[in-house]
Formats: sequence, C-alpha cells, structure tokens
Amino acid sequence: MRLTLTLLSTASLFLLSASNVDAYGVVGHTLTGQIAQQFLTPKTAKAVKEILPEADEGLLSKATPWADKIKSFAQYKWANTQHYVNTEGDNPPDYCLFEYVYGGQDVVNGLFNMTATLKQLQVTPPTTSAQLSVRRDAIRFFAHFIGDIHQPLHNSIRDRGGNDAPIKWGRTKSNLHSMWDTLIITKDIKDNFSNDPQAYLDDVLAKAKSYWSDAATWTDCDPAQNKGENPWFNTTKTVKTLCPLQWATTMNALDCSHVWTSYSPTLDYSGEYFERMTSAETEYLTRKLLAMSGVRMAAVLNEIYDSGASSPQPVKRDSVKLPPKYLELLKRALNQ
Ligand SMILES: *[C@@H]1O[C@H](CO)[C@@H](O)[C@H](O)[C@H]1NC(C)=O
Ligand SMILES: *[C@@H]1O[C@H](CO)[C@@H](O)[C@H](O)[C@H]1NC(C)=O
Ligand SMILES: *[C@@H]1O[C@H](CO)[C@@H](O)[C@H](O)[C@H]1NC(C)=O
Repeated sequence: MRLTLTLLSTASLFLLSASNVDAYGVVGHTLTGQIAQQFLTPKTAKAVKEILPEADEGLLSKATPWADKIKSFAQYKWANTQHYVNTEGDNPPDYCLFEYVYGGQDVVNGLFNMTATLKQLQVTPPTTSAQLSVRRDAIRFFAHFIGDIHQPLHNSIRDRGGNDAPIKWGRTKSNLHSMWDTLIITKDIKDNFSNDPQAYLDDVLAKAKSYWSDAATWTDCDPAQNKGENPWFNTTKTVKTLCPLQWATTMNALDCSHVWTSYSPTLDYSGEYFERMTSAETEYLTRKLLAMSGVRMAAVLNEIYDSGASSPQPVKRDSVKLPPKYLELLKRALNQ
C-alpha cells in the first residue's frame, strides 16, 4: 500500500513537473485525444486499438500524454527536442519568422518521422516484437506531437518558447508557456463550464460543427509544399492531410497576433487576457486549437489505417456523449 502510494505520488509529481516545463499539459493532450477519437472511422479505431498498449484500451486520450512521461528515459532521449520547433530570427510580437530548415530534431521532423514509420509498418506489417514496439511508440509520439505543434509557444524561439517569460496568474506566478499549456484551459473548464469536462468537450465539438467557419478546411493541405529538402517526403507524400510545416507556420503567426502582444511580467493574465483567449473575440482560440489538433490527428490516422474511407468529415459530427472512462481520464488530469 505504502509502495503504491509513493509510486503514485511520485508519478503525478513527475507528470506535473514534466508538463510544466515544456509540454502541452496532460489536460490539453487528453482533450486532443478525446476529440480525435470522435473522428476516427471504425476501421481506424480498430487499428489504433491493436497498436496501442493494452492498458490504453484503444483510447488516444490515454496514449497522448505518454511522450511526456518517458522524457527522462535514456532510450527516448532522441525525442526530447521533438516536442517543439525554433527557427532563427523569430522574435514575437515584432516579427514572426518561420523559415524552416530540414534536418533538425524538432516537432516538424518528429511528425514526419512518426508518420513515415506508421505508414511503412502499415505497408509492411511488423513481424518482430522490436518492430511492434517501434510502431506502438510511433503512434503515441505522433498523437502527442500533433498536440504540441498546435500550442503556439511550441513554435517560437523567444524566451525558450515563453518558459522564461514570467507572468502573474491571480495570486500565483507562472510563465507564458505553462499558461498556454495548462492554465488557460483548466480555468476555462472551471469558470465557463462549472468544471465539467463533458460540457467543455460538447462545446468544442459543437463549435467544430457549426461555429468555426474554417473548420472544413483544417484538413486541407498541399503535400507538395512538404517537398523541399524533406528527407521524409518520399515515405509520407501519400498522406495528404499531413502538413506539419503549414501548421507550425500558422501557429507561429499566432505568437505575434495573440500570444505575445503587450507582454508584461507584472500583468495578471488571469483577467482580461484570459477572457480574450476564451471568448468570441478570438473565436475561443484555445478551444479552437484543441479542436484543430484532434481533427487533424484523426484525419492522418484515417488516411493511414482506412485508406478506403472518404476524406475526413470533421464538421459533420454532432456532439457525442463520451463514455465515462474518457471523462475519468480528463477529471483525473484536471485534479492533478
Ligand atoms: C526517427 O524515429 C526513430 C524512432 O522510431 C528514432 O530512433 C530516430 O532517431 C528518429 N530520426 C530522426 C531524424 O529524428
Ligand atoms: C525520393 O524519390 C525520388 C524519385 O523516386 C528520388 O529521386 C529521390 O532521391 C528520393 N529522395 C529520398 C530522400 O529518398
Ligand atoms: C467564458 O468566460 C469569459 C469570461 O471569463 C467570457 O468572456 C466568455 O464569453 C465565456 N464563454 C462561454 C462560452 O461561456
């Protein structure tokens, strides 16, 4: 009993510190997985379930936070820089410059690499346990990186993606990065949805269906623009909804238009700034980014595992009553 408790609290402490440093928080990642799951075709959902570890029960929401939990493991060190991307000369809010150079170990590379791996192992199914575990890791990294790339501060070099930009948050102190990873989202759920994650998810799915007028274009992407010096181009070019470069460029632009505007370490960001990012004034920006991330995650997976499916239909889906086990995950994450 004591051992279990110790392990548990160490694990949650570790999760907390990991998510505070440089990751879309557990809540954000869990949400992107829950949203994505709503858009998987039955065939894709079945494939995902077969690939994920049994303990994940086929749920992307269980799989998405994994990549933060294993950051300190030696065999995964190669992935630690692949949660974000920095481009030289970028300096929000004055100018957002995203001149990407292939060859780096960043989130753009990570998404291409993981998609290439999943695609190849779909064409030539794994036969050894080593290959099975490469595939299991690849889908979990993929689902995580796609969340990370939709957090604007994961696409900007200034102050280590805002980690070194202190802010005030009510009576506590935080930094710009943690606020975008976690604080805005959890406060939005708490204040606007009486801390009810189901209500929050219903709202996000309903808005994806009928509020965000550009939702039908979220999966548009021109694979030709992935060409350049891209070492992964040949293996990923048939995946027509994979556009990490385009996504990163759009997210980086948000650093200038929204995230870093009138930055001040003495401003209380839980006031007017929070309200702006969670209201009609910004089209409920933080909710929109979670929705985009989930819809795109599902679209790529559908392309890989259900190539017969018609193109993803992100806006056609009604709000869905989520099974209790999904909600449990989110509630647990919220309480951490
Ligand atoms: C691609 O992913 C594999 C794991 O599947 C990793 O070992 C390798 O370092 C990655 N390559 C790059 C260039 O990031
Ligand atoms: C991709 O395929 C083209 C045409 O088959 C070939 O010329 C090129 O060298 C390949 N690129 C890589 C990086 O493998
Ligand atoms: C959420 O709360 C903010 C104020 O904190 C408000 O501006 C916004 O309209 C609210 N949105 C919803 C959907 O309740």
